[in-house]
Amino acid sequence: MDNLMIRGGRPLTGEVWLPAAKNSVLPIIAASILTEEDVVIHNCPLLSDITGMLDIIRSLGGRAELKDNTLWINNRDVRSACVSNALTGGIRSSIFILGPILGRLRTAEVSYPGGCEIGLRPIDLHLGGLRALGVRINEEGGMIRCDGGNIRGGIVNLDFPSVGATENIMMAAVLAEGRTVIRNAAREPEIVDLQGFINRLGGRVHGAGSSLITIDGVKKLSGGEYLPLADRIAAGTYLTACAACGGDVTVHGIYAETISAVTEKLARTGCELREFDDRIRIRATGKPKAVSKIETQVYPGFPTDMQAQFGALLAAADGVSIVVENIFENRFKYTVQLGMMGANITVKDRTAVIRGVKRLKGAQVCAEDLRGGAALVLAGLAAEGETTVRNARHIDRGYQNIETVFRALGADIQRK
Ligand code: UD1
Repeated sequence: MDNLMIRGGRPLTGEVWLPAAKNSVLPIIAASILTEEDVVIHNCPLLSDITGMLDIIRSLGGRAELKDNTLWINNRDVRSACVSNALTGGIRSSIFILGPILGRLRTAEVSYPGGCEIGLRPIDLHLGGLRALGVRINEEGGMIRCDGGNIRGGIVNLDFPSVGATENIMMAAVLAEGRTVIRNAAREPEIVDLQGFINRLGGRVHGAGSSLITIDGVKKLSGGEYLPLADRIAAGTYLTACAACGGDVTVHGIYAETISAVTEKLARTGCELREFDDRIRIRATGKPKAVSKIETQVYPGFPTDMQAQFGALLAAADGVSIVVENIFENRFKYTVQLGMMGANITVKDRTAVIRGVKRLKGAQVCAEDLRGGAALVLAGLAAEGETTVRNARHIDRGYQNIETVFRALGADIQRK
């Protein structure tokens, strides 16, 4: 059941209700280690990255249950501070588990994350930030051993506003005595969500959403319930699919401001967009227009997690588009697969030149990473003829039942 079979060429029409953002829920699950009491997360998506993170929680001694999109966690019995390589390897960004383990147990041991499908995942900023909080770190034989016996508030100056490093340091600081200040912090909405969750449990975090975050250490966190933000990348993916196929789609649950960089570019391709308090409607007719230049940037710039889906849209647009990937070095692999569908894309270093063709043609293609895989699905939906996307498990890391969502919008897509 790892293939998606698509008969393309149908417009997409209807409504989509979004689950909570994977990139909010993953750090929130990690942050739950900071309390011994019950935590309940609502609208939680059923994704392989989420179940992988819950496996990590269980391996540490915690308990977790995900039923009907409600996630219950209790970490009272967490005793182990050691995360095995086999578990972290599955979720590329799971290094942020280090911060909460250190905060709670004052010691932690994880293996060094290697590279991944989209590029290297260095963690120097994470470790530098933890050192600034007084954590002693020993890196040896691929292992990172942390002694947080003297952890306390400190000042962290990030050289780059890394999302993962900001989250890691925030979580490590919650139970550390004194005040921590993170300068040049990432400003992504998921960081604001993590602050919201920690404060719901009695933490004292301020400033998320700006580049200066302050954490005043507390002795203990309580339990609590939390509804994370909707998934802005899933929203962007479904809106972009409609732009590629034509049609009329409303995406519910999204706060439009969080994806304005994407909707602004969609409008430039000629779509009509209407934003409401909690939903966005897109109407697309005719061939999309090329966009002269798109560059991925940190928030509020154009998200790297939407670059591939836009590549699929622009592959059959009217004119030439330039796409520059500034965040990860290996995020253009999907363009080779799009080439098999007739796309005309040249990649040099971090820049792709996309010469829009008349129409993409169905082909057998292979998903190599999560967002690149979603891009191939979009291309298949818009293309003439039949497309098979192999290795759909990559897509399942970030989209709950992608085929069910698209079928409800009128697409012809099956899993086989
Ligand atoms: C990134 C995205 C985030 C997205 C997530 C999942 C950005 C800025 N971040 O977060 O929006 O939701 O992927 O796909 O778009 N880096 C270092 N040293 C470090 C940490 C990072 O050099 O210690 C570099 C990375 O190589 C990369 C950049 O910083 O070039 C972005 O990294 P970071 O924001 O940390 O990545 P994620 O947290 O995975």
